[in-house]
Amino acid sequence: MKKSRLLFLAPFVFAGSVSSPLHAAEKLTYYCSAQEDWCQIMATGFEEATGIKVSMTRKSSGETLAQIKAESSNPKGDIWWGGTGDPHLQAAEEGLTVAYESPLNAEQNDWAVKQAASADFKTMGIYSGALGYGYNEEVLKANDLPVPACWADLLKPEYKGHVQMANPNSSGTAYTTLATIVQLFGEDEGFEFMKGLHKNINQYTKSGSAPIKAAARGENTIGIVFMHDAVKQAASGFPIKVVAPCEGTGYEIGGMSLIKDSRNPENAKKFFDWALTAEVQTRALEVKAFQVMSNKSATSSPMAPDLASIKLIDYDFKKYGSSAERKRLLKKWDDEVSVLPQ
Ligand code: G6P
Repeated sequence: MKKSRLLFLAPFVFAGSVSSPLHAAEKLTYYCSAQEDWCQIMATGFEEATGIKVSMTRKSSGETLAQIKAESSNPKGDIWWGGTGDPHLQAAEEGLTVAYESPLNAEQNDWAVKQAASADFKTMGIYSGALGYGYNEEVLKANDLPVPACWADLLKPEYKGHVQMANPNSSGTAYTTLATIVQLFGEDEGFEFMKGLHKNINQYTKSGSAPIKAAARGENTIGIVFMHDAVKQAASGFPIKVVAPCEGTGYEIGGMSLIKDSRNPENAKKFFDWALTAEVQTRALEVKAFQVMSNKSATSSPMAPDLASIKLIDYDFKKYGSSAERKRLLKKWDDEVSVLPQ
């Protein structure tokens, strides 16, 4: 009698032991293209808020796009958060991401929702920031160099070996630089500018913010980066001055996209909504991420660059975020600029 009761109960015990590991396996594979420390607090913050286990990889915007594309027949990532909008737009156009209209869209700035609408909601704008450069005041003085104020200044022969930027193939920051220069000066003159700049470049880094981190450490003089990345170094106590180039400049709308055919789509949507809340976006200040946030109620720092006082171009995201144009410009830069002697 006892024996048969035990047998009868056994399937229930078994079922229970299956359901709990399933629950414990709630997870999210998160690709991040913003600054590392911000990526980290987003990962731990989401884990704490939901109990969902997050596995995070930080790679630059162009690199992440390449990875998502390479994995598209068997996607490993669930969500791509952060990084410049152009590669997110390209991913949307190439069908690598899926459409989602979050209920939180009502709380976001128009520019963020406009970016999403332009891609049929296959990506979303999450922050914005202007491009510029920063320099190490002490290194500049020690080398007896003039104070730069314009893009054109960066071509001066005395800056040879003193300027650093990222490679536009891997980095969204550097692609924004290339597209900005082309929009500011026209394509022919813009490429002449990039060739002139090439002579002064000491290194093309993989990640967009690396040049200003190197300047902060005194290992480089001028870094072409988003202005908020330079402000972060200044706010951290390094002798970095921030420049909004006199001719005007471009800007980014940072992106967030849900990866198509992902393994944990519901968790990815949870992250998507969570990341659009004012509370979560305000946490950017903990890691001195001084972008303008998409949520209208997110708090910004008085140290953040004031976009209204910067001469911004009307950056054509539709064109420069299109697959054909981004590929064409990168190939042209590879063929005509990167191969030149320095
Ligand atoms: C930094 C900036 C972000 C930008 C990102 C792009 O982290 O703070 O605003 O979106 O760079 O990174 P990438 O390495 O692709 O240039």
